[in-house]
Amino acid sequence: MTVTEKVRLHGMAYGGAAVGRLDSGAAVFVPGGLPGELVEAQVIERKRNFARAGLLQVLEPAPARIDPPCPHFMAGCGGCEWQHAAYDAQLGYKQRILVDQLERLGKLPNLPLLPPVPSPLEFRYRNVAEFHLQGGALGFHRASSHQLVDVDSCPIVEDSINRALPAVREALAGQAAIEQVDVRNGADGLLVTLLGQTDPRAHKLLAAGLAERLGGDCRVAGVRIGSDRTRGLHGQPFVHMQLAGKRFRVSAQSFFQVNSQVAEKLAGLVTAEVGGGERVLDLFSGVGTFALLASERAREVVGVEEHPSATGDAHANAAEFAAGNVQFRQADVASAVDLAAERWDLTILDPPRAGCARPVLEALNSNRIVYVSCDPSTLARDVAVLAARGYSLSSLQLLDMFPQTYHLEALAVLAR
Ligand SMILES: C[S@@+](CC[C@H](N)C(=O)[O-])C[C@H]1O[C@@H](n2cnc3c(N)ncnc32)[C@H](O)[C@@H]1O
Repeated sequence: MTVTEKVRLHGMAYGGAAVGRLDSGAAVFVPGGLPGELVEAQVIERKRNFARAGLLQVLEPAPARIDPPCPHFMAGCGGCEWQHAAYDAQLGYKQRILVDQLERLGKLPNLPLLPPVPSPLEFRYRNVAEFHLQGGALGFHRASSHQLVDVDSCPIVEDSINRALPAVREALAGQAAIEQVDVRNGADGLLVTLLGQTDPRAHKLLAAGLAERLGGDCRVAGVRIGSDRTRGLHGQPFVHMQLAGKRFRVSAQSFFQVNSQVAEKLAGLVTAEVGGGERVLDLFSGVGTFALLASERAREVVGVEEHPSATGDAHANAAEFAAGNVQFRQADVASAVDLAAERWDLTILDPPRAGCARPVLEALNSNRIVYVSCDPSTLARDVAVLAARGYSLSSLQLLDMFPQTYHLEALAVLAR
């Protein structure tokens, strides 16, 4: 039996759904709703402590509700969750979620919260996009599904990526072996990466045709899904990204911050924490962005990164910087307990969503810590571990790296 209820929504959850209470008192998550709204919702799943519901109708809209500009959002594309909310409201939700996660999960009261750093661009900000291909469709998955929404243009990616889409679509039509295509907009042109289950060297002709269609400075790389190895199919399998007045080599499989303008602000905040002559540890160092920027002021910097492609880029970038005081080690951070236990003036931590391995946090012997996080729940967990060891938060700041989505970046500075 389907149950519909009128629900007053009172908050926004990490994950992007609005939250209210059913008549039974159980919390209910309603994607597409906004705090303050009265909605008619259909309960689709009941758990012991909460329920999930679909939004049937907004009975009393919130002042923050706007018309989403993107037709694909309206058709259920799972790339964004919040195009129906005014941008200021999105920032407010994220700030509230960040505080809530640290207070509730981290049991950290009296947070030294700084004002959020908004994204200068609310749309057209992503320098990279990962499109899936399936049965002739090219686009993004629907929310919580593997079904594709065919996308001809995406409002959150940089214009150069949208301009490339028709050529990518034409060149890849009928190519069943390609499951995903990533497009990164570098300072020296586009890098298109073809991903599939087969040996990418079979796609050399296809890559040449794609590069010809795209024209200009365009490189094409190939990756067999699950492999660490990247093949250059047309030109070199990397581009350079501009950050803080420097250029960083970034290969097809290496991480780079997706919103260049917010990354610029983040890099400024991180490097402002580096003191002259300091010994700095950069855990999860990627292509070496923070480590290399820090090396301009520090005495010595050691970066730890497990992905061979990112570590290869970091070595190339160190050579480009002519930085003699930086070392990069390719290793799992979880295995760097002894290194963490050395004496450091500053440690930069920028882990993936899973956060940092607990033994490393328990071994850290650093006067100060700058923790860059893309998941407030693991940030809360890890800061709680550090707080139990005598570190206290000196500041906490939200940076909106991902407008139109519920994802958030936060910078926590700790000292002991
Ligand atoms: C959020 S990115 C940060 C990269 C870099 N700080 C930057 O801003 O460009 C996280 C990085 O950690 C790496 N990584 C993920 N798990 C790791 C682990 N267990 N040990 C070492 N590196 C890891 C990823 O490959 C990625 O480069």
